Amino acid sequence: MVKAPFCVGLTGGIGCGKSTVAELFAEHGAGIIDTDTISHDLTQSGGAAIAAIRAAFGDNYITAEGALDRAKMRALIFSDAAAKQRLELILHPLILEQAKAQLSRLQDKPYVIIAVPLLPESPAFRQLAQCILVVDCGENTQLARVIARKLMGEAEIRSIIAQQTPRAERLKIADDVIHNDADLDSLAKQVNVLHVHYSSMQNNI
Ligand SMILES: Nc1ncnc2c1ncn2[C@@H]1O[C@H](COP(=O)(O)OP(=O)(O)OP(=O)(O)O)[C@@H](O)[C@H]1O
Ligand SMILES: [Mg+2]
Repeated sequence: MVKAPFCVGLTGGIGCGKSTVAELFAEHGAGIIDTDTISHDLTQSGGAAIAAIRAAFGDNYITAEGALDRAKMRALIFSDAAAKQRLELILHPLILEQAKAQLSRLQDKPYVIIAVPLLPESPAFRQLAQCILVVDCGENTQLARVIARKLMGEAEIRSIIAQQTPRAERLKIADDVIHNDADLDSLAKQVNVLHVHYSSMQNNI
């Protein structure tokens, strides 16, 4: 039997610091699986999800280069819950499959951090992880940091926050919490402590 490394599911609301935290764990030598990156790859030109997206949504949602037209799709799924679900039904099984494949290639790592924004809503991903780490910050911090990235306006960010699992619900499923209202030094210190903890864990599955 192949021994899988201990797997930590990392989640948090938009802009709470998942990617920053994952990078800090990577510096400690953890294996990292980023489901946002997987999703992006699947929907790039030539990506494994393109044919199914084209079949379900039509050519209109695929660019001339053969990638998902992200702006168009974002606009559609914002106003159409059924379309959002249809897209997720295509993407989520593919993301899970890729994540499992990556996990099997990370056996030499002391443990693996798998970043999944949708972890609270996704039983399949929760099954993959032996514990859940939530990176949390206040909504004002969250808004300010995402606004500073300048990729979205405040109204769009607020509606994404409203669509995501509420903060209190997310915290309820956490085994560990990283508080990210302070500076990057404080973040790094919390990661240091958890690194020691996760390094001592065994995957008993
Ligand atoms: N403690 C901190 N101090 C200052 N800036 C921070 C801190 N933590 C994160 N940031 C910044 O806030 C922004 C959001 O962080 P990050 O990208 O890690 O969040 P995320 O949860 O991965 O977001 P998304 O949901 O969009 O993927 C980034 O620009 C990051 O550099
Ligand atoms: Mg991120």
